[in-house]
Amino acid sequence: MDYLQLQGQTPLHGNIPISGAKNASLPLIAMTLLSKTPVHIGNVPEVVDIKTLLKLLQHLGAACSFEDHRITIDTCCLTDTKATYDIVKTMRASILVLGPLLTRFGHCEVSLPGGCAIGQRPIDLHLKALEKMGATITIKSGYVVAEAPDGLVGAAIVFDKITVTGTANIIMAAALARGTTTITNAAREPEVVQLCNVLRQSGIVIEGVGSAYLSIHGTDRALLEMVPFHVIPDRIEAGTYLCAAAITNSTLTLTGVCPAHLETVIAKLEEMGFYCDIGERTITIHPAETIKPVTITTQEYPGFPTDMQAQFMALCTQASGTSTIEERLFENRFMHVSELQRLGADIKLSGHIATITGPTKLSGTDVMATDLRASSALVLAALVAEGETDIHRIYHLDRGYEKLEEKLQTLGAHIKRLKE
Ligand code: EPZ
Repeated sequence: MDYLQLQGQTPLHGNIPISGAKNASLPLIAMTLLSKTPVHIGNVPEVVDIKTLLKLLQHLGAACSFEDHRITIDTCCLTDTKATYDIVKTMRASILVLGPLLTRFGHCEVSLPGGCAIGQRPIDLHLKALEKMGATITIKSGYVVAEAPDGLVGAAIVFDKITVTGTANIIMAAALARGTTTITNAAREPEVVQLCNVLRQSGIVIEGVGSAYLSIHGTDRALLEMVPFHVIPDRIEAGTYLCAAAITNSTLTLTGVCPAHLETVIAKLEEMGFYCDIGERTITIHPAETIKPVTITTQEYPGFPTDMQAQFMALCTQASGTSTIEERLFENRFMHVSELQRLGADIKLSGHIATITGPTKLSGTDVMATDLRASSALVLAALVAEGETDIHRIYHLDRGYEKLEEKLQTLGAHIKRLKE
């Protein structure tokens, strides 16, 4: 297994290109199951989760090619509608094939994703909504078995909780359903907005895009023709590099980014004393005189993103005072706390609230990644820790960050990937 070795306390400088969004690419790849012609997607990040979903589609009989950030997927001749455990267990977002497979073929089997480090992450809301659209859903030997032999029918869906992939699944299911589906309490993430926009460009009438109330008019199983498109920039990768600049008190420019998707992250950084110059597709962050403590509560978009919680916790260890972070979306998304404490961080946990006192001098040591965003928090802490830090189990990192060590090396960081 690989691990990362970092020497801390080196200021960073320069420009960092932001890759396409992993969490936009995944539903868009699943969406190709609705197309009668090959689909061409640009600006796709070369990360493990994308390769996993492509492997799943190939397993179902799709023809996929992926090179130089461009994907072509042809699902015209699918031979199977069973997403097996061996692939689904490595990536929960595989559940995104459930809606498209069911609405196109009238039946499918998708393995239950199983557990995850950050929480139980049920899919009950996905299943309840599909049943409302006329599907028969049973759970058999760890698989969701979904049947809708006459196709899905538009329905009024109300989500008890906001669910990003749940909203994406139902939008895709509704696209080929008979009649109109409304979704109340829909997720408003930019990744969901792009899925709606690409479907609209393919002829699907969708009202309320970007709002919590969507109305989707289905084609009654007529397949779509999709024009080529590019994936939006990854707002979480961008936020992570903004935190890398902040924690090392460096000036950095992010390029190929969408500032509008980072409003709450930029607002929090400025509350902490940093200053961000906003361009059309660039953000330049400047050091703070003194890093001020902050209060953060994670919320669904456009609130503060849970996927930035761990990164800000690392940054708060360098703030002068006491910060609090409340994690409202997931029940176990503080796995990075004990690893940050090993580096010397002063963090106290009480239920879903973490209290971070700073500034604390961090000292390099061995730490272990536990999930995707926790891993990036450890990289940030290692950048400011004195001495050498070895970060183990970085396969978590490779799921969602493209060429992280190369990108940091171009900024001057002392980081290298080694073999255990
Ligand atoms: C998406 O996960 C993202 N993944 C996650 O990013 C992100 O943290 C999360 O949304 C929240 O923003 C992708 O887009 C691939 P949810 P998702 O359904 O859709 C509960 C990363 O780091 N819930 O919005 O799985 C659930 O338990 C990943 O890139 C139900 O109770 O999250 C959670 O508490 C991590 N029943 C809350 O809703 C359901 O049927 C939000 O989950 C579905 C969800």
